[in-house]
Amino acid sequence: MDYFPIFLRLANEPVLVVGGGEVAARKIDLLLRTAAKVTVVSPELSDSLAAKAAAGDITYVPGEFQPELLDGMRLAIAATDKQSVNAWVAHQCERRNIPVNVVDDRELSRFIMPAIVDRSPVVVAVGSSGDAPVLTRRLREKLESLLPQRLGDLARLAGKLRPSVKAKLEHASTRRRFWENFFDGSIAADVLSGREDAAGQGVLDRIGSSLTRFARQSKFAGEVALVGAGPGDPGLLTLRALRALQNADVIVYDRLVSAEVLDLARRDAERIYVGKAAGNHHVSQEDTNALLVKLAKAGKRVCRLKGGDPFIFGRGGEELEALVAEGIRFEVVPGITAAAGCAAYAGIPLTHRDHAQALTFVTGHCKGESDTVDWSALARPGHTAVFYMGLNQLENIVARLREHGVPESRAAALIEHGTRPSQRVVTATIADLVQKAAEARVASPALLIVGEVTRLHEALHWFNTRSVELALTDEGRLSA
Ligand SMILES: C[S@@+](CC[C@H](N)C(=O)[O-])C[C@H]1O[C@@H](n2cnc3c(N)ncnc32)[C@H](O)[C@@H]1O
Repeated sequence: MDYFPIFLRLANEPVLVVGGGEVAARKIDLLLRTAAKVTVVSPELSDSLAAKAAAGDITYVPGEFQPELLDGMRLAIAATDKQSVNAWVAHQCERRNIPVNVVDDRELSRFIMPAIVDRSPVVVAVGSSGDAPVLTRRLREKLESLLPQRLGDLARLAGKLRPSVKAKLEHASTRRRFWENFFDGSIAADVLSGREDAAGQGVLDRIGSSLTRFARQSKFAGEVALVGAGPGDPGLLTLRALRALQNADVIVYDRLVSAEVLDLARRDAERIYVGKAAGNHHVSQEDTNALLVKLAKAGKRVCRLKGGDPFIFGRGGEELEALVAEGIRFEVVPGITAAAGCAAYAGIPLTHRDHAQALTFVTGHCKGESDTVDWSALARPGHTAVFYMGLNQLENIVARLREHGVPESRAAALIEHGTRPSQRVVTATIADLVQKAAEARVASPALLIVGEVTRLHEALHWFNTRSVELALTDEGRLSA
């Protein structure tokens, strides 16, 4: 982040604007919404600013900028059409540690102004560090259309209620639930749609009875959401998973959960890593189960976040059994499993009328006594076998498939870091799979797909294929 986003309280604070034209006028309009005390210095004023000065909304100092005018100022804006004057103002502000914005000059500015959506007291600010103003404007337009016009009324109502909610509900977690319930519930919906007047007695009565209900429940029972985080790309998270992430007090997550997905959780949620590196069990399954139980019993809302889908080679069932044994409430949010995500992003349809009519998900941990896999079924033509956790067992898997009659020409693919920007796909046949995987140094997490469908990768790949650097030619065209 190049700029630190803040909201500055400027009511009754002195702000200097240098320049008296239309650009300055636009900035002043915005400043006046905060009730700042604006002084404008300029040899001349535009008509609209002259009217404001005459009405006493701003103070006008006729003439050129003088550094002494900055004395006591909280903020300054340089909006003249002379670059040298703007630079001089910026320099003087920097010397005095007064934050300055120079219109259309990112280099000279200490702060820049975001595009805003104003539903005061709710204000949404969008910025691109000055890189893409048109993009920020587009985002602002989208937000404008998304945010209800009466959002401000609702926020003001909440602000009015805060002291009584705080007085009635002792615990911070109870208050948070009250507010979540309030904003998700029918009172908020009625205010936003205009069916209820935010300042009316009807609303206050309804809120009063809801508050009484919450006050009666001294402590909330905790609960666990067992959530599939998908294979990595945060875009593959379901809406329900996003909701669970936003609602959670604690996130208990695994190694396969990508940083981008974790980033979508509430900022103040506690994050507990219980990941296991292959062959190196940091936290035992029993300890993870016990942790979930302990957190829920402490009244926390826990999001148990697992890579892919929690019920596919994710031991989600075992964790739920532990919760059931302790009578803890839970929900399950399915996720996109690695097979579906990796195959899609590699352009490999797992079934295809011409190539595969059956599909099996297999664990690669299938050696020795734990090998209960029906290898002859996997070996049949027209079958796609997807091996999870198969990388370390590649030689064994290939050997077992050969034993059961898989021809050397049977196609296969290894997908490393599927759905992530670093995704790699190695295609091979049974004859050279082990060798190609070693040559390419395929690393975990990787998924093995065995079946003729993997040949389609060549024609159907679409993701991450433009790793070619694009550059601008002298004529301003893009070339590879
Ligand atoms: C313990 S299993 C968990 C599977 C997960 N529950 C799911 O539904 O995808 C871990 C294995 O999933 C596969 N895997 C998970 N994410 C992957 C990814 N982004 N790319 C490739 N393989 C992945 C790998 O085979 C890895 O060894």
